[in-house]
Amino acid sequence: MGEIVRLQKYIAMSGAASRRAAEVMISDGRVSVNGETVTEQGVKVEIGNDKVTLDGKLLRVTEKKYYIALNKPIGYVSSVKDQFDRPTVVDIIKQDIDARIFPVGRLDYDTEGLLLLTNDGDFTYRVTHPKFVMDKTYWVKVKGSMTIGAMNALRNGVDIGDFVTSPAEAEILDAANGYSLIEITIHEGKNRQVRRMFEAIGYEVEGLKRTRIGVVELGNLPLGRWRYLTAHEINCLMGK
Ligand code: URA
Repeated sequence: MGEIVRLQKYIAMSGAASRRAAEVMISDGRVSVNGETVTEQGVKVEIGNDKVTLDGKLLRVTEKKYYIALNKPIGYVSSVKDQFDRPTVVDIIKQDIDARIFPVGRLDYDTEGLLLLTNDGDFTYRVTHPKFVMDKTYWVKVKGSMTIGAMNALRNGVDIGDFVTSPAEAEILDAANGYSLIEITIHEGKNRQVRRMFEAIGYEVEGLKRTRIGVVELGNLPLGRWRYLTAHEINCLMGK
C-alpha cells in the first residue's frame, strides 16, 4: 500500500502547482480522482494507486523511498504499532521522517542492534525472503564457557525443534568473569533463531546484539540512532 496524502499535497508532490494553488484548482473543478471530479478540500488519495488528473492530464507522483539502518535498543517492538502500546522502532524514526516506514524483518523485544527499515516492499522482499540467503551476524553473551563440542555444534548446524540450522560461522570473541561472548553468522531468519540455537546446546542467552545484515554493518552507530543506507548498500542488498 502506498502513502496516503491529501489531494492538494499530491498535486504539489507531482510538481504541477504549490499546495495553495492546488486548493484553488480543486475548487475550480479542474481535478479528478479515478475519473470523478473533486471540488471539496481534504480528500485523501493513495500514492501509486489512485489516478489523479488535472485538466484531464494524469499527474504522476513517485513516493520517495527510504532505506534506514537503526541501532535498536532493548525495550522496543519491531513493528509499526504494538497491541500493548509498548514503544516501537517506528516511533524512533517517526520523529524525523514523515513517511510510512516499516521494519524489514524483526529483532526480539529484548534484542538490540542492527534493524533495517524502509517503505519499499521490493526491498523488504529481497532482504527477508528465504530464497535470497542473507547472512546475519550476532554477538551473543552467555553464562559460562563454551566447550569445543558446543562451538562445533553451532558450526555444524543445530536442531531447534522444527528446523535444523545450516552450518554457522562461530568464534569466541571474549571469555571473562564467568561469561562468554560469541560472534555467530547465520544464514536463515527463523523466529528467535539464535536464542533457540544456544538453548538447544544448553546455553541461555543473556544478551543478544545484531551487528551485520549482508553488507550492512552496525559499526559505531550509537544505540537508538539511525542512518540512511548508502546506494552501494541498497544495491548489494537488492542483488544488483
Ligand atoms: N535471533 C534471536 O533469537 N532473536 C533475534 O532478535 C534475532 C535473531
